[in-house]
Amino acid sequence: MCGIVGALVSSGSVTPGLIAGLSVLEYRGYDSAGIAVARGGEITVRKRRGRLANLEEAILDGSMEGALAGIGHTRWATHGEPSDANAHPHTGRSSGLALVHNGIVENYLDLKRELLNEGEAFTSETDTEVLARMLDRLWTQGGGDEAALVAAVRTAIPRVRGYYALAVLANCPTGPVLLAVRQGPPLVVGVTPEGGFLSSDMLGVAPHTRELVYLEDGDIALIGPGRLDITGSDGSVVTREARTVQWDPADSGKGGYPHYMLKEIHEQPDVIARTAFDRIDLGAGDVRFEGGGFDDAFCRSVERIQILGCGTALHAGQIAKYLIEGLAHIPVDVDFASEFRYRDPRIVPGTLALAITQSGETADTLAATRLARELGARVASICNVAGSSQVRESDATILTYAGPEIGVASTKAFTAQVAAATLLAIRLARGRGVMHEHKARQLLEEFRMIRPKIESLLTDEAIARTREIARKHAGARGFLFLGRGVNYPVALEGALKLKEIAYVHAEGYAAGEMKHGPIALIDPGMTILAINSVGHVAEKTRANIEQVKARGGVTVSVGSDDLSHSIADSAVPVPATDEWLSPILNSIPLQLIAYHIAEIHGCDIDKPRNLAKSVTVE
Ligand code: F6R
Repeated sequence: MCGIVGALVSSGSVTPGLIAGLSVLEYRGYDSAGIAVARGGEITVRKRRGRLANLEEAILDGSMEGALAGIGHTRWATHGEPSDANAHPHTGRSSGLALVHNGIVENYLDLKRELLNEGEAFTSETDTEVLARMLDRLWTQGGGDEAALVAAVRTAIPRVRGYYALAVLANCPTGPVLLAVRQGPPLVVGVTPEGGFLSSDMLGVAPHTRELVYLEDGDIALIGPGRLDITGSDGSVVTREARTVQWDPADSGKGGYPHYMLKEIHEQPDVIARTAFDRIDLGAGDVRFEGGGFDDAFCRSVERIQILGCGTALHAGQIAKYLIEGLAHIPVDVDFASEFRYRDPRIVPGTLALAITQSGETADTLAATRLARELGARVASICNVAGSSQVRESDATILTYAGPEIGVASTKAFTAQVAAATLLAIRLARGRGVMHEHKARQLLEEFRMIRPKIESLLTDEAIARTREIARKHAGARGFLFLGRGVNYPVALEGALKLKEIAYVHAEGYAAGEMKHGPIALIDPGMTILAINSVGHVAEKTRANIEQVKARGGVTVSVGSDDLSHSIADSAVPVPATDEWLSPILNSIPLQLIAYHIAEIHGCDIDKPRNLAKSVTVE
């Protein structure tokens, strides 16, 4: 949801680094890209609608080279259509200041009206330009130096409603100044003797240094070579600990795959192993989380769980509900974070709010869990980003070790969330004494054997099978994904993947609900994917496949239930496992089928239209 970068270096040219930073952040938005550099007492801006490649082409003339300070932006449009004019950076009247913004200024119309009355003229439809014009006025009125810049920000902040991460570049008499402000969306800073770097995501800073500082809400930071001066909005000096991140340059590349999504699908054997295996204690038939989290006393104190998340993460939460209710016997509610935060939710004593989020920065999920806390819940999270806001605001966290997920459509982060939720359900069950050690050990032993089963779904032969299914069905008018029990949310997720990357209409449905309405849709133009693994509802789902066939629907069965395969028109066999673990395996062919259909339709798989990763606005 918009990516921002900034750098101030002691020698060389800042532009190649800004472009490299934007290229790893492009997954956050790709409606436009732009940079501003400070050079010879002037700020020069270049910005282009569309992909970063358009901007790169626009600066081939070398006109942006040779500057020591700059900022950059890749946009996911919220206010104003994607266009050159609406692209960031934005400037004020003085042309001595430029800024880039991730977030939303909710009261921008009021502020804009005020600025218009004061004689400002606007060149874009964005909320961001209001900030640029306001700060530029305050800064120049204050004398146009570094102190005036910080004072301008402090004066402006209380007037701005909304959430924002800002990077401001100003030409001061002593040289260019780079300033960052955080109020909501993430900002990561890294400083070395050669330069100061900032980015929306650790990926933008890690190539320069592994020592990262995550700014917190209200922080105002001045950044440069060997310099990170953070103050709060009241002017008090703030100290933030740096964290060392593990980062492998290969993590940011496609590793030989044509798309990040395919690379990330292939990473799942490792991701599941990293997320789950070291936490499995087979001897004790139990799960051990780092630092002793979720100990017996904690597990026993949980009376009810409220799961919160969005999109794919919510689907992982729906699977978690089946797991936790089924294994640990704790009542679980699951809600879209965006609904929970605007209804009048009832939180009973002993409630644990469990946020599930890859990025840890999703605005709705953060707001919903804050509300749950206000209403008396404790907060735990399943999250993929250690330093994220969600983790920092949680009483307990289970990290997923999926590594950076660049493909906008979530794949490996989803199965890692499901793996983490499975571990949590077992820990809760054991901690509360409702699951026998022997039964837990059996399930955990089965879990430890999942890796080769995942690998078997990613062999050339298995991939060819999903490609063939995709080829056969790519022209279908629509898709219905059916599943029951713990595989019902897998059906929802399969449909979401197809919608978002292949732009095909698809619905996920509880198989037993089909006869209450969607069955009317069935005709030979509809493809029905039935997810069915061996387990207590396999026979019921099989009956649903028969019902679809009887009405002329085209069926594909996915799962470990051989009898389903024998009645469906086509089949994607998945290795057998315990029913509780089947969502991890069944999800993989569905990711691949969506991928191949998107490929056949010529879609931009890693950057689907209108989407962005990490939705840091409402
Ligand atoms: C879909 C997808 C989104 C995210 C959702 C929540 O493939 O990735 O639906 O799952 O935006 O994001 P996080 O998990 O970062 O909170």
